[in-house]
Amino acid sequence: MTLHSTTLVGIAGSLRRDSYNAALLRAAAQLLPPSCHLDIASIAGIPLYDGDRETSAGIPDAVRELKDRIAGADGLVVATPEYNSSFPGVLKNAIDWLTRPAQDIGRVFRGRPVALMGATPGRWGTRSAQSAWLPVLRALGTRPWFGDPLFVSQARTVFDGAGNIVDEDVHERLERFMSGFAEFVRAG
Ligand code: FNR
Repeated sequence: MTLHSTTLVGIAGSLRRDSYNAALLRAAAQLLPPSCHLDIASIAGIPLYDGDRETSAGIPDAVRELKDRIAGADGLVVATPEYNSSFPGVLKNAIDWLTRPAQDIGRVFRGRPVALMGATPGRWGTRSAQSAWLPVLRALGTRPWFGDPLFVSQARTVFDGAGNIVDEDVHERLERFMSGFAEFVRAG
């Protein structure tokens, strides 16, 4: 049987240079099953959503490009920080832009497999943030994957100063997570 290659797009919901979530995504890109590729995208450069700006200047280039990357991929991986027991505004803002114009929601999101993961220095591993995303993912008609969840807590001890995972258990769980999601995407 020929295994077709699977392309995933990954977004980390943090603009911080030393973001644990960006590090988690980079690590995920190194732990993929064969014939699977994770294209890491960025939400940097996406302005605050402003309906007047949309009317006068249209969709920003950074948004247009990210929409096309997601639409061209087989699945989306979101590494979400948790802010005040919910998702961070910068990531919600980016997702909101990605749903403009609304006629494009189908092309970008509908039926798209989505995996949520997240890292925090705190104790609960972004559970609340991941739950907070669910109504959004449902509203966009995505196909969230509910395999073994990945809640990375105590991030200061999980990553070294360069953002590499030094915790064997998290390393293994991330590898399993990515294989499970790739299988889900391939199963269609
Ligand atoms: C946080 N942080 C946080 N962590 C958590 O586990 N639960 C929470 O509710 C919050 N709330 C919160 C609010 C605000 C405004 C900030 C700035 C931070 C801590 C957060 O997990 C930490 O800053 C992470 O390092 C953010 O993710 P990145 O930037 O490392 O990817």
